[in-house]
Amino acid sequence: MEILAAKNMGFCFGVKRAVETAYEQIGNGDIYTYGAIVNNEEVVEELRGQGVRVIENREELQKVKKGTIIIRAHGVARDVYAQIEKQGLSIVDATCPFVKRIHGIVEEESKKGRQIVVIGNPGHPEVEGTVGWSITPAVVIDTVEEAENFVPEEGKEVCIVSQTTFNYNKFHYIVEIFKKKVYNVTVANTICNATEERQKEAKEIAASVDAMIVIGGRHSSNTRKLYEICSKECPHTYFIQTLDDLHLERPKAVSLVGITAGASTPNKIIEEVQNYVRINF
Ligand code: F3S
Repeated sequence: MEILAAKNMGFCFGVKRAVETAYEQIGNGDIYTYGAIVNNEEVVEELRGQGVRVIENREELQKVKKGTIIIRAHGVARDVYAQIEKQGLSIVDATCPFVKRIHGIVEEESKKGRQIVVIGNPGHPEVEGTVGWSITPAVVIDTVEEAENFVPEEGKEVCIVSQTTFNYNKFHYIVEIFKKKVYNVTVANTICNATEERQKEAKEIAASVDAMIVIGGRHSSNTRKLYEICSKECPHTYFIQTLDDLHLERPKAVSLVGITAGASTPNKIIEEVQNYVRINF
């Protein structure tokens, strides 16, 4: 069976780097990740089995007496670094460089006196981390309504950044609202194009194959989105979590199969599926 595999599938650059960092630390004493290193139970469990434990929050961090804390790709607020140092623990920083850049902008612009507005989901750990780099209180805006109701601090210029995975069109729409009401706005479009590129490529592949396989967690919204996009292009699109889900209900006369995977799907699963399809399909 011929396979057309996406180049952009599975872990994005930042998550891949963070997961590799966690594996590199195995055996280096007591190792913790601040939050799950990736939104994938299998990987987290495998790491746990090799001694890499997960700290969920600041309270749990406070109880750690010795060892190394790995900061995941999402990044954390500045005071989390301070807390780790205060406790005499080591830091291995696997914050994605694209997120690091946002932290830098937020810190610098807030020091200049600008009010920071983060366009993103207020409950998302990346956004919480970003907010924590502003030296003055930052505002998080998630909806058009919130943007319309926003009142800038008296006499302050505004600096807008975005969550890396925020929807591009919605970001621009919200920015336009700000530009109409706030006289002086600096905008840093900090959306990462990893998601968009993955979707674009999946669409192209699905349009040119006989069957399409999308690999990822049932609850992963980005995988579901990939499935929707591919289904529109290819009627024989399959959504699987692991190789076990791949039933052979394939259509007849399949000669080219496309494969893509969501952002938290490990390479191991992708390879298993690819090998299986190549030989058994
Ligand atoms: Fe991934 Fe970094 Fe972009 S974590 S989604 S490559 S900002």
